[in-house]
Order: sequence, then C-alpha cells, then structure tokens
Amino acid sequence: MAPIYSRIIATGSALPERAVSNADLEKIVDTSDEWIRTRTGIRQRHIAADGETTGDLAFLAAQRALEAAGVKASELDLIVLGTTTPDIIFPSTACLVQQRLGANGCAAFDVNAACSGFMYALGIADKFIKSGQSKKVLVIGAETLTRMVDWNERETCVLFGDGAGAVVLEASGEPGIYATCMHADGGYKELLWNPVGVSVGFRDEPNHGVRIKMAGREVFKVAVKTLDSLVDETLEAAGMHESDIDWLIPHQANLRIIEATAKRLQMPMDRVIVTVDQHANTSSGSVPLALDYAVRSGKVQRGQNLLLEAFGGGFTWASALLRY
Ligand code: UT7
Repeated sequence: MAPIYSRIIATGSALPERAVSNADLEKIVDTSDEWIRTRTGIRQRHIAADGETTGDLAFLAAQRALEAAGVKASELDLIVLGTTTPDIIFPSTACLVQQRLGANGCAAFDVNAACSGFMYALGIADKFIKSGQSKKVLVIGAETLTRMVDWNERETCVLFGDGAGAVVLEASGEPGIYATCMHADGGYKELLWNPVGVSVGFRDEPNHGVRIKMAGREVFKVAVKTLDSLVDETLEAAGMHESDIDWLIPHQANLRIIEATAKRLQMPMDRVIVTVDQHANTSSGSVPLALDYAVRSGKVQRGQNLLLEAFGGGFTWASALLRY
C-alpha cells in the first residue's frame, strides 16, 4: 500500500495588538534593553489585552489557516491544540475553538507539553493521518503566557509573550511530514515550572501563586545539548543529511540557543527563521508563528524541506522534518 503522508496545506497566526518594547519593561523592573537584546535577542513581545484569551488568539490563527487552505471547518475531523495556558480548566481550549469555528462533532483535545506543545500536537496529528483515522486536521499552538508571569521578577518577565499559530494538515500520497520525534524527562521538572494547580492547590499569594519559575542558566545548558541530539535523531529518522534541510524553524526562546542549533546543523543564519526579536518566547505559539511568518513572507517555498523543533518545561522536546 502506498504510504500516507500529512501535508501542511496552509498556515495562519495571530498576535495581540499591543507590542511592549524592552524600553517599556525598563520602567517596570531593573533591566535594560541592552541586557535583554544581548542575552536573548528579544526586542519586543505582544501582550494580550484584558479579557483576550488563548482561545481568542487560537480561533483567529485557525480561521486564517482555514481560509488560506480553502478548507471549511465542517470538513475537519480532528483539532489538536498545544497550550499550557488554557482559557479555563475544562472544556479544553480545542473544544472552545471548535465550537467558534463551527466544526462541532470532530474530535478535539488539548496537549500540554509546555513550549513543545505545538510540536507534540503536530506529531500526534501526523499519527492520526498516517493511521488513516483522519483526513483533515487543524493543529494549533496558542498561549497567553504573560498571564502567569511575575512582573516583579526580571529574570523571567522579560522573556515571554502571547500569540498563536495554526496549520491545516491533509492526508496525501505526496510528502509531507517525513519524521516526528517526541521526548520528555520529568526528572527536570523543577528547572522550569509553575507548581500550583487544581489538585495541588493554589497559594495565598498574588495571582494565587500562579507564576513561572525558571533556573535559566541550567535550562539553557540542557536545551542546547538536547536540541543537538534531537536534530541528529530527526535527520536519521527521515533518512536525511544536514545539507538536505532548506530551513530551520526553531522554538523561539533565545537567539543564542537558536544559533547553537544552526551551528550544529552547519546552517548559515540566513536559512534560519528568527522571530524571537519580535515575539519573544510564546511557548506553544512560537514554532507555528515562525512558520506562518516564513510562509507569508515568501521565505519558505513549496517543495522545501523544513526542520521544526522545540524544547520546554517538563522537560519536553520534539521535532518534525517535513517537505512544505
Ligand atoms: O522555552 C523554554 C525553554 N527556555 C529557555 O530555553 C530559556 C533558557 N535560558 C535562557 O534563555 C537564559 O539562561 C536567560 C536569558 C534566561 C538568562 O541568560 P543568562 O546568560 O543565562 O543569564 P544568567 O541567568 O546567568 O544571569 C546573568 C546576570 C545575573 O546577575 P549576576 O548574578 O551575574 O550579577 C542576573 O541577575 O544577569 C542578571 N539578570 C538580569 N539583568 C538585567 C537576570 N535577568 C536580568 C534582566 N535584566 N532581565
């Protein structure tokens, strides 16, 4: 039997209107534009308006992807949404978006893999298509991470932003996604986490104790090392070499991490999609936002090979190598 591939037929994204510069943050915490730019590559981030939710951004990104694909919501048979900042505890944000799109009836669920959420969602959707279970799938990565940032803590508050991206996948006889990889190691949970919640309980602290805690330097070291082996594994799984990759579309957490991965792949930075300067770290939103930018700006062309990867809390790490 001829193999079934998942093909990305279109992309979409959405950002909150308000952009906040590094200079704006200098007024809130003891930081500087120079420190933020040189340590992270970030120049600005978008921050959701009061009342604007992950689901709102996900819905907009999904609408734009469906429109670009020429696919009606009623044709979808699966929605997978990566997020660690769902609108409410339940129903899932995927269900909330499904209802707003008018895709009622298809399967819909969220995936929480922190910053690797979209890459996990893409890997899962690919398996549904390859198994013959699904033909048209909407995959979304969406976050309002700034809702759980401690605006008094300079180590973390300068790093994050809000946003969403989406892709429409279709079953095809042509490639397509060649390989996806997914990993996790819960042994590292305390290096990057938000350790309150429904079952553990909330705290008698501002925002009920909901805030991101990160040991940045340690996360950095593990991220660089882990992404090195992830790209090796992904190339091997796809039966490809570094030279076969046209574009690296990495998780946008830190420009220095991105440069290290590019170096490992022997790729010049003009073959790497960088949006961290504009969006900061949008967790599950970051890779699909970067992909949509790459497609709509005309950088990425049909027939090119793309390597997508992410690393985040858990730790989790995941990738996909595909022909666009
Ligand atoms: O998306 C999930 C994965 N997340 C990541 O990949 C994030 C990984 N980590 C990083 O990107 C980097 O570690 C950071 C950007 C978070 C930090 O950069 P760093 O080069 O590792 O800095 P550091 O944490 O070692 O801090 C260096 C100095 C410290 O001061 P001392 O102890 O040297 O006096 C910090 O207190 O920079 C200070 N610092 C700041 N200064 C100005 C920390 N945050 C700030 C700030 N502004 N915002």
